[in-house]
Amino acid sequence: MVTAAEALQEAVKLLQPVVERPRLEAEILLAYHLDCERSRLLLRDREVLEKPEVFFALIERRLAHEPVEYITGGVSFYGEEFFIAPGALIPRPETEILVDEAAALIRERGIRRIAEIGVGSGAISVTLARLFPGLRIVATDISMEALEVARENLRRFGVEDRVTLRHTSLLEGVEPSETELILSNPPYVAEGTELEPNVADYEPSSALYAPGDGTVLLRRIVDLARERRVPAICEMGFDQCKPMEAYFREKGIEHYRFYRDLAGLDRGFIVMEN
Ligand SMILES: C[S@@+](CC[C@H](N)C(=O)[O-])C[C@H]1O[C@@H](n2cnc3c(N)ncnc32)[C@H](O)[C@@H]1O
Repeated sequence: MVTAAEALQEAVKLLQPVVERPRLEAEILLAYHLDCERSRLLLRDREVLEKPEVFFALIERRLAHEPVEYITGGVSFYGEEFFIAPGALIPRPETEILVDEAAALIRERGIRRIAEIGVGSGAISVTLARLFPGLRIVATDISMEALEVARENLRRFGVEDRVTLRHTSLLEGVEPSETELILSNPPYVAEGTELEPNVADYEPSSALYAPGDGTVLLRRIVDLARERRVPAICEMGFDQCKPMEAYFREKGIEHYRFYRDLAGLDRGFIVMEN
């Protein structure tokens, strides 16, 4: 007989050597197992687990480095719970800054149509569609699996009528009239970079890596924005400021700025159309 409190204690002990936040993750997995809110766990302390082996199988998966988000099928982004599944990148907290930068520009200019390249789970497009009820979004991805996850999130948040998903590369087939602003958090990790096992072994490499120094797609997106004479906002790696700045100079782009994440690292840029 194992109570919820005992199972939690054991799970924390098992996770300790492997994960950064063992208590938090043990609680998330126990709440998932018991199908309740994490905040309700204390009330269920003395409950005897009916199937402790099923709970500890979840812990085993986490011990094999599977991200907790793929195990539970949920991820928090911009204060909302999104659906997530293998095949789509788990949205990261720093990407919320891209949403804030985009929201500021959309508000300032009264933008009504945007395009997102590499929609993944749909976290960015869904959040913006919810913030701006008049906004229309075309969101592309080359991964059918990612598009399926995005579709589920569009449905979950009721924005299917304003966010159109396209299975295409970059903006192929997207008419210039469909966008006044381009957004993207493209794959930007330089080829050959070693990533943590929870990322490298479980998240799609096509969502992470770009050839060479990782800026190929970022540069391509800047080109597209210039061709279409619209601004672009992109997330990038903390060490990609220099190569991107060199590219802006090479292209004669004067109006741009970089933004930082909460750790103070360079994390993205905005290029204006003029
Ligand atoms: C870093 S993930 C970002 C996902 C999501 N937008 C987010 O911020 O969490 C990059 C996404 O770009 C997609 N992708 C890669 N190359 C692409 C291309 N050429 N055109 C469109 N999407 C692409 C990947 O499949 C992946 O879903």
